[in-house]
Amino acid sequence: MILASCTHPRWFVAATRDLHALLSDHLHCERKAAENALSLVRRYPHRGASVDALGRLAHEETSHVVQVATLIAERGWVPRGDLPNQYARALLAEVRGREPERLLDALLVAAFIEARSHERLGLLARGFADAPAKTAAPTLGPETRVNSDLGAVYRALATAEERHTRIFLELAEPLVPARDLADRLAYLSEREAEILAALPHLSRVH
Ligand SMILES: [Fe+2]
Ligand SMILES: [Fe+2]
Repeated sequence: MILASCTHPRWFVAATRDLHALLSDHLHCERKAAENALSLVRRYPHRGASVDALGRLAHEETSHVVQVATLIAERGWVPRGDLPNQYARALLAEVRGREPERLLDALLVAAFIEARSHERLGLLARGFADAPAKTAAPTLGPETRVNSDLGAVYRALATAEERHTRIFLELAEPLVPARDLADRLAYLSEREAEILAALPHLSRVH
């Protein structure tokens, strides 16, 4: 929808080489998405409609944390610790300091992270659907017998991230004239593609 580039085909192989690392990174991405939505509520409590939308979004992202935690537990693993996310850091460095640009940029950066997550979770959904045996959870005993269809879970998560992109764009729209919004989107779109292209392919979402 707003992305200027497509993920390189080699990313999927690198991302799924260490499924434990990928799922752990994904869990922290979902946690940070929930935290980011709530931090916008903390910083902008007077924006009534936004508080409602962001609160609901945080709620849904938290449910994604639970879903990814289940995928990890089904495999007999525990989530690994969070690692610095160069992609998000570089994008957040583009957020300007003064209002209303600060809020506009925070919403647009969130929209780009959601859009890229939508693209990549979609790639994972298709890849996992094509290779179910490799990614199936082992049978580990009665308490871990649930075996989610990884492809189906990722398909649902990818759909949600697309919807979240639209929510952030809708929250950004009233803040500035349409021309300024289009210019900023075009700039951030190019920056996002540059930032992504400079990063190595690892077992991570970004
Ligand atoms: Fe999510
Ligand atoms: Fe999201």
